Amino acid sequence: MGQMIPDLALRPATRQKRAYSQKSKTLQYDPYFTEKVIAATGPNAHPRLAQVMPSLVRHLHDFAREVNLTVAEWSAAVDMINAAGRMSDEKRNETQLMCDILGLESLVDEITSKMLATSTTETPSAILGPFYRSDAPLMPNGSSIVQGLTPEVEWYEKALEDSAHLSGRVLTPSGAPIKGAIVDVWHTAPNGLYEQQDESQPEMNFRGRFETDAEGRYSLYALRPASYPIPDDGPAGQLLKLLDREPHRPGHIHFIVSAPGFRTLTTQLYDDRDQYIETDSVFAVKDELVVNFKPREGDPEAKWSLQYDFVLGSMLC
Ligand SMILES: [Fe+2]
Repeated sequence: MGQMIPDLALRPATRQKRAYSQKSKTLQYDPYFTEKVIAATGPNAHPRLAQVMPSLVRHLHDFAREVNLTVAEWSAAVDMINAAGRMSDEKRNETQLMCDILGLESLVDEITSKMLATSTTETPSAILGPFYRSDAPLMPNGSSIVQGLTPEVEWYEKALEDSAHLSGRVLTPSGAPIKGAIVDVWHTAPNGLYEQQDESQPEMNFRGRFETDAEGRYSLYALRPASYPIPDDGPAGQLLKLLDREPHRPGHIHFIVSAPGFRTLTTQLYDDRDQYIETDSVFAVKDELVVNFKPREGDPEAKWSLQYDFVLGSMLC
């Protein structure tokens, strides 16, 4: 893939930069232009779009005027968005990753969960992220989502060291167990790669869905999660480099917990040993989601144990 953000667009020559800077202080732009664009919306516009688009147009135009955005810079941004779209498919969502590093998915997630919350006891949500696959296998409680672990695997020793038993309950806001809830879980291999990013891993490795029993319980074997840098071979990684930013996400396990009659919870749990907890490149960490794995005794399948209860919110009537 060619260069997605041309350097020239972002780095004008010093003389040009000085002239541009001096001139931009004195420029006046058409004061009626933005309202003219907003007024073009017709009477039969989609109601929600008619509500939100004036604000979007005002913010976009104000941004362009505030920074004196040039055609070359705007064109570089368009190229970057196009490149993200071309790179996205059913296994990779680069456009979503772009939103993630700008904090937009975390912000929208917070807005949505606060708008829909019906109690103060609900487990906080966290972003879906770009690596979810909707068709993970439904597995019996107590089984393992770790596939194909043999001594030949590059991260074999690390996987043994971080083997973990995960269990807990899915509860209503008042603490009653929810039977038949589905706990959909996924995380990376110890090399920091999700299975769809890594041809050496079996299909659907480190992914599974589990149904809670009559007491609302789920259980499975997995691994303590590994931190990973977001992919740097696309526009999102390139933007991080241009911004001189930390690319890592702290180790986390993704969950989607759902049950009929309750609001589906999308969240992540973060391992408190991780060095990137404070500098998550997608700004998704919340204190209530940081967990402490405990040593597990007498289980040859796991060296660590984590118990975590998920509380689902009720549906708004
Ligand atoms: Fe992730």
